[in-house]
Amino acid sequence: MNDDFREFIDELLAKTDIVSVISRYVPLKQKGNTHWGCCPFHHEKDPSFAVNQGKQFYHCFGCKESGNAITFVEKMESVDFMDAVRILAENAHIEVPQFKSGGRSGGYDREKKKRLASLMRDAARHYHENLSSPQASTACAYLVRRGIEKPLVTKFGLGYSINGTEIIDFLLSKGYTKPEMKEAGLIEQRADSYYDVFYGRLLFPIIDNFGDVVAFGGRTLKENYEFAKYRNSSQTPIFDKSRNIYGINLLKKKKQRENVDFVIMTEGYMDVIALHKGGFDTAVASMGTALTAQQAKLIKNYAQKVYISYDGDSAGQKATMRGLDILADCGLSVRVVSLPDGMDPDDVIKKLGSTTYKKLLDEAKTLTAFKIETLKKAYDLTDPEEKSKFTVEAVKVITALPNPVQQEEYINLVQSYTGYSKQVLMKQAELSFSESDAPATATPVGKTRESSSDRRAALFMLAAIASEKDYAAVGFDENILPDETYREVYGALCESLKGGGVRMDSMFYALTDGGKALLAEIADYEFMDGDGAEKYRDCLRRLEIKKAEDELAAMNDALKGADKEEQLTLLKKIGSLTRKLSEIKTNR
Ligand code: CTP
Ligand code: MN
Repeated sequence: MNDDFREFIDELLAKTDIVSVISRYVPLKQKGNTHWGCCPFHHEKDPSFAVNQGKQFYHCFGCKESGNAITFVEKMESVDFMDAVRILAENAHIEVPQFKSGGRSGGYDREKKKRLASLMRDAARHYHENLSSPQASTACAYLVRRGIEKPLVTKFGLGYSINGTEIIDFLLSKGYTKPEMKEAGLIEQRADSYYDVFYGRLLFPIIDNFGDVVAFGGRTLKENYEFAKYRNSSQTPIFDKSRNIYGINLLKKKKQRENVDFVIMTEGYMDVIALHKGGFDTAVASMGTALTAQQAKLIKNYAQKVYISYDGDSAGQKATMRGLDILADCGLSVRVVSLPDGMDPDDVIKKLGSTTYKKLLDEAKTLTAFKIETLKKAYDLTDPEEKSKFTVEAVKVITALPNPVQQEEYINLVQSYTGYSKQVLMKQAELSFSESDAPATATPVGKTRESSSDRRAALFMLAAIASEKDYAAVGFDENILPDETYREVYGALCESLKGGGVRMDSMFYALTDGGKALLAEIADYEFMDGDGAEKYRDCLRRLEIKKAEDELAAMNDALKGADKEEQLTLLKKIGSLTRKLSEIKTNR
């Protein structure tokens, strides 16, 4: 934190009264100097949550949580530090200077975003009211057919677009302009008139974790549709599909009332609604795309455990699998629910009932078991050759696990499928481990895993530099970084360090789009317990080794086509690089 920023935070805290902030969420009763209430963090019946007005902090004698107004808002609103600061600043009517990027609003265009959000809210209300109009009879009949009764329609704020122009007239009457409607992704131009892109569709408002309507999903009501079954809002200044999760607003409300043990991740709007109806009210949806790191972080604000409940066809797909790894990498405990063939959660609830669905949740597999299961389906284990291929692949999954106890668990599983002895499987595991450590001989699978962990290493290092951690030494060779974007941001960070301190906001503008995205990721980086000097050193070493090994491989390749003289020079270089490499490797 630089001095200006610290000063601003001090001012913000001085202008904020913790008692009035907390009272908005928790009823408080004053006794002497202290205000008492029931702790919102561990959901108790007798008040042991104390708010100290003089010192402006809170402490719970039950669960031992304590903090100031900022940490309270972070927890209650499930937002990060900067967003909590923004919320408090808005209440205190003070401007947040642009110190740091990250967070939803990124600082600039705030007014415009507010305007679009209010336009979307008005639109959502209007679409919702449309459902009571006589012109909405088809939509209402459809809702009845899908078993969505009034309380659910209200809970999810469902709506209907009656025709191509009606929303335009309504929003004009509210003072919005057509260019604004277009920017919000509601209307498009055809010839020289505008029309509602959701015309004739049943609408699912997508509400973010600040409670703002940021987009719509629209389902056609036709049985035999010519166009897409669903149409979603395009990317807009307030909507980024890869950063949002359908249903997150309801999850947040629930979290404010009680503990959330797990989240159920589905693919579709209808799945979320059906699960809520069936009593599984922590169901959310990814809206038809593979999961991203931002979505993983969002979920992690609410629970540690996530059940993946996709229909069978999509669960095993590569893109899905990558998404599940992202969740696991983020520290979430991932379970994969397997549904009967061809059914999605909505079908299961309707045709088989909640009790069956609950049973399927209880039987959900760990991510590793699910991966092995998926591989098993791809091979014919009665054929010796395929069986050995399966085993090699399955063992690769196992060697990626962090600890031997877990590995043993799954070795047993593979043994039960293949009948190979445990010794043979262990040996295969060792082999596959050393292969993945040596890029020259590694299989393509090993390589992609390598490069993603290189990226993670580099990301951690840059985040440490950006946060000005004392262990984050700079001055290393930029060429060890995975690609040009990392080098660009590294360069910018070094520059701004020279200028006295890291100012992400001012760095931001000079970067390429890729650089901006990486910087935003860095600003969002959450340091964990193991992140420190030792890890920094290890990461540096890892990247240095990778770079040297890549160079060696390239030289070895070049050797083949070279003439005698060139070969000699190359061999010398190879010699000295090999020495350097072994130095790095031994110099732990
Ligand atoms: N989806 C989309 N665009 C499409 C199809 C699907 O954005 N053309 C997204 C929607 O978020 C949808 C999800 O992917 O909810 C899952 O799609 P699908 O399984 O086809 O739909 P269901 O949710 O099962 O919808 P329904 O039950 O109404 O058929
Ligand atoms: Mn469905």
